[in-house]
Amino acid sequence: MEHLTLRKQFQLNFDITFLNHGSFGACPIPVFEDYQHWQKKLEEEPVQFMLHQAPELLKVSREALANYVDCDPIDLVYVPNPTTAMNIVIKSLPLKAGDEILMTDQEYGAINKVWDYYAEKAGAKIVRLKIKLPINSKEETLKQFWSGLSSNTKYVFLSQITSATALIYPAHEICRKAKELGLISIIDGAHVPGHIPLSIHEMQADIYTGTCHKWILSPKGSSFLYATKEMQQIIDPLVISWGYKSPNPSDSLFQDYFGFNGTKDISAYLTTPAALKFLQTFDWETRKESCRTLVKHYYPIVAKLLNSEMLSPLSDDYLGQICSFPINTKEPVALQQLLYKKYKIEIPVTTNGDQHFLRISYQAYNSAQEIEYLMDCLKDIQQTTNYLA
Ligand SMILES: Cc1ncc(COP(=O)(O)O)c(C=O)c1O
Repeated sequence: MEHLTLRKQFQLNFDITFLNHGSFGACPIPVFEDYQHWQKKLEEEPVQFMLHQAPELLKVSREALANYVDCDPIDLVYVPNPTTAMNIVIKSLPLKAGDEILMTDQEYGAINKVWDYYAEKAGAKIVRLKIKLPINSKEETLKQFWSGLSSNTKYVFLSQITSATALIYPAHEICRKAKELGLISIIDGAHVPGHIPLSIHEMQADIYTGTCHKWILSPKGSSFLYATKEMQQIIDPLVISWGYKSPNPSDSLFQDYFGFNGTKDISAYLTTPAALKFLQTFDWETRKESCRTLVKHYYPIVAKLLNSEMLSPLSDDYLGQICSFPINTKEPVALQQLLYKKYKIEIPVTTNGDQHFLRISYQAYNSAQEIEYLMDCLKDIQQTTNYLA
């Protein structure tokens, strides 16, 4: 019943079997209260808060986050989400006609669009390497990835954990080789912080973005952009504000540019220390381990039930707390709606290329019984509809 105690720490509707932590996370009550505490402080004295307290509070929160993801706090700024982070970065890159950007065919849809938008404008070429599924080994994946390298490649881009296929890709190895080759490495770690170990310092990515609101359990709209000091020289703010030619410049232009982009509620950013404390108080490392054990137990069982397959070996090298099943359906939208409306299961049916996937997230508030219930419902759907082959 341990998971029930934990479930009560969250605000999720008890009528719903919630197997979709991955999309937007879920914020526990103590962290949400901290969020409201900051909102109240802001409304009690907006001027003092915005002008005098916010900069120092943000610094404290940024330092806590930098310590957690292992980078220099001066190289990290808060942004609302990874899409914003990637817009900032890609718009700033000196892309020119003929340049190539190497990435996989499993990148996140919205961020693919950002790349397409700016690459089309510049006449640059995006090389989306097909990674064969299921993946068998890191070596094989790396070989496939690097087969797209050419003398025009300038940038490599990778989701460290993919969205639709829910796989961990070898970001460390890719960043290391990119460095050797003189390429810029850009990592989308939307699903990484709080989910699998992360040391940006060890990875040596040139650019890294991640969320706090997914697996660190912050309220929605808290994410970060990390950039090496060299990359900071070329990164323009999306919004020019007081940080440009600041009358009181700090010793970091990057911080000046992104510290204040006009009036907004920064309360979600300020909750990082409370969220990290929650993870520690509730011994999240042990709970994450239990989630990974559940993934390894149920991945083959659910795959068999769905006449599907696992997308990787059962190893921490490829799998965290999410796993995806390729499914044979002509009705992905209706299937997801049926799961929600009839069976009260919140679970995503995602698409990558022309393949649909059912993705299960395991968070500490989930139980084995919920997966058993999902399986019963999937059997029922197989027997009573033509949504699943
Ligand atoms: C791999 C990946 N990158 C980026 C994002 C971006 O999220 P947002 O729409 O919040 O910017 C997501 C969201 O789930 C994701 O899975």
